[in-house]
Amino acid sequence: MDRLKIDGGVPLTGEIAISGAKNAALPLMAAGLVTDGTLRLTNVPDLVDTRSMEVLLSNHGLAVERDDDVVTMSGDVTNVDAPYDLVRKMRASILVLGPLLARHGQARVSLPGGCAIGTRPVDLHIRAMQALGAIVELADGYIQARAPDGLTGARVVFPMVSVGATENALIAASLAKGTSELVNVAREPEISDLAECLIAMGARISGHGTDTIIVEGVDRLGDATHAVIPDRIEAGTFAIAALITGGDLTLTRAQPRHLDSLLDILRDTGASITAGEDNMRVVANGVTKAADITTDPFPGFPTDLQAQFMALMCLADGSSRISETVFENRFMHVPELTRMGADIQVDGGVAMVRGRPALTPAPVMATDLRASVSLVLAALATEGTTEVSRIYHLDRGYADLELKLGQCGARMERVGG
Ligand code: EPZ
Repeated sequence: MDRLKIDGGVPLTGEIAISGAKNAALPLMAAGLVTDGTLRLTNVPDLVDTRSMEVLLSNHGLAVERDDDVVTMSGDVTNVDAPYDLVRKMRASILVLGPLLARHGQARVSLPGGCAIGTRPVDLHIRAMQALGAIVELADGYIQARAPDGLTGARVVFPMVSVGATENALIAASLAKGTSELVNVAREPEISDLAECLIAMGARISGHGTDTIIVEGVDRLGDATHAVIPDRIEAGTFAIAALITGGDLTLTRAQPRHLDSLLDILRDTGASITAGEDNMRVVANGVTKAADITTDPFPGFPTDLQAQFMALMCLADGSSRISETVFENRFMHVPELTRMGADIQVDGGVAMVRGRPALTPAPVMATDLRASVSLVLAALATEGTTEVSRIYHLDRGYADLELKLGQCGARMERVGG
């Protein structure tokens, strides 16, 4: 099993081009199931998760071709089953439920099961499909859904904000008969990116980016070419990498306006951040001041940057209160950071971090995608050699991590066995 050996203590300086967003690419690829024509996506990151989605779409019968960062999908669905052995590799497989129902009137999707950060139920996805007229049964670990006469537009009110359930409902409503009003939806940039792509395919959607989206169903969706938005979580991760190592990084092909909540907090910690239209420069300014965060759906502080921010607070001047409100178990990085000498006390969904002048190298273990990268960040800031194991988690969400950071001075080596 691969490990990363990291010799930390080097300020990172230079320029990194941000890749396309994993969490935009996955729903966009699932939308390939609803077009009668060809969907061509550009700026698609080459990740384990996007490769898994390619396999899943091929399993449904689509012709899926990848050429560098361009993924093209076309053809008819010949199989509506999303089997457990594919779904268990990637929870986002649930995103084929809405498209299959919308265009093919039925879907049999394995329940994804939980993961390290929580039970992650899919009840909101199911409720949205039922609201749009689908008959849904759970049997043998599968969601068995059908809409033999197609879906019907409806008012769908989400009791809590869910990115994935919003995406499933948005795609499904695009081909429903009549108009749908989706209420209390997620406002993440990835939702707006999906809406813009569906509109390019012929969908009639308005309100995306707010908490209510209106969709007028159409009979069919056609060809489109769409560029995946930059990955705001990758950009936020590298901004923190600049600060935790006392460095100076310029991030290009980024969209700083997708990161307002993070950039505001980083400025509070003393960082110098210059944001352009599609780039930003992040410069450390001596000691990092401690700051408190509470994660929240967009435009609040992203839960996907909580672990990375915690690593930064481990070396800050002062104490930081970190409240995780989105997932029930997203502190798996805490015991590993503690092994490196961090002072963190967890009480339920709140972690109190007391900053230390330095951490110490130690063998640590990755548990989930964002926890993994928080350990990499801590190691990059720590003199000596730290080994991070189980880094297959990293490969799910960060393309060319060693290459990108290595070009800015990071001393990282992947070792097998
Ligand atoms: C998406 O997951 C992202 N994944 C996650 O990123 C991200 O952390 C999350 O949104 C929140 O921003 C992708 O986009 C592929 P949710 P998703 O539905 O859609 C509960 C990463 O690191 N919930 O918004 O699964 C759920 O348990 C990943 O890139 C239900 O109760 O997140 C959670 O507590 C991790 N029932 C909360 O809602 C449901 O039916 C928010 O989950 C669905 C969700």
